[in-house]
Amino acid sequence: MNKVPLLDLKAQYVSISEEIDYAVKEVIQNGTFILGENVKRLEEEIAAFCNTKYGIGVASGTDALLLSLMACRVGRGDEVITSPFTFIATAEVIVLLGAKPVFVDIDPKTYNIDPAQIEAMITPNTKAIIPVHLYGQPADMDKILDCAKRHNLVVIEDAAQAIGAKYKDKMVGEMGKTCGFSFFPAKNLGAYGDGGMITTNDEDLAKKIRMIRTHGSQVKYHHEFIGTNSRLDELQAAILRVKLKKLNEWTIQRQRIAQIYTEAFRGKGIITPFVEEFNSPVYNQYTIRVKNREELIAHLKKSGVDTAIHYPIPLHLQPAFSYLEYKAGDFIESEQASKEVLSLPMYPELSDEQLETVISAVLGMF
Ligand SMILES: Cc1ncc(COP(=O)(O)O)c(C=O)c1O
Repeated sequence: MNKVPLLDLKAQYVSISEEIDYAVKEVIQNGTFILGENVKRLEEEIAAFCNTKYGIGVASGTDALLLSLMACRVGRGDEVITSPFTFIATAEVIVLLGAKPVFVDIDPKTYNIDPAQIEAMITPNTKAIIPVHLYGQPADMDKILDCAKRHNLVVIEDAAQAIGAKYKDKMVGEMGKTCGFSFFPAKNLGAYGDGGMITTNDEDLAKKIRMIRTHGSQVKYHHEFIGTNSRLDELQAAILRVKLKKLNEWTIQRQRIAQIYTEAFRGKGIITPFVEEFNSPVYNQYTIRVKNREELIAHLKKSGVDTAIHYPIPLHLQPAFSYLEYKAGDFIESEQASKEVLSLPMYPELSDEQLETVISAVLGMF
């Protein structure tokens, strides 16, 4: 049986092993492991890629959001609006700073926060909005930015899943006050460990975030405020610089695979990803929507096809957020999506044969 995993990092490594091995060896031989030349260069390269002035390497995508909020002075008593249909990190960082997540339901077509519902949730305590570009498709930023501007709110993009995606003529990463990227191995630009990046056009914020990531200091052992240790590792930066050169090519492959899936599933009663005409998504996930999900998962498993659910429980119903006292029925679109979404294998190295295996296995049930 031709097994098809959800993603195959080994296949990717095989295609770039020489360059990766060389880059890793070079870092080890040079002996600079923290904030060396590779971190600096990757920060410049990602900033250029996103059309921003600054990039700041941090320890993870979670920290990219956390440090962004810290730099924007979000803290106790503040409210931050975001989507309940995302990975927990998006809302977790709000709570870590003593602020309160305020959820706004998603647009059921795109799975991104519904901009039309944001305004009603703004209070005098609202300080920021974190739109998530879920699965790699940008949220409707113009509407969100317009609302934020009218209410003097900070917008922090969560682009953990969306590096390289475009919204109208803008890159993800250049629209918010800051933007957080994740280099978690399964992301489109994945490290061999954890890593993250913040992009911004704001010089003061960039400077502040650089200080936060090294214990509130610019000069060693001189601490101007309380920060933390959240640096992108030099080894990971060296690896990511090799991979960044391939990113556009890999994105095109992901888009091609998505198109083939979508064509194959047309008219079969499977809801395929809806793409806003102004968006160019990067398909960190290719996520379909079906009524008979559990049956389909079992059927695909038997056919050797791995799947995943992103995400089975919306955040407002997670025990970790029970203190917020949301209940079932509060965000019906997120709840419905969490019961029906299913992510299929998606990675640039997916062969035509594997693609065919997935498609025929899926269609076997429709
Ligand atoms: C939407 C979203 N936000 C934030 C994160 C956090 O990133 P990391 O795992 O690098 O901390 C992730 C990924 O895991 C994510 O998918």
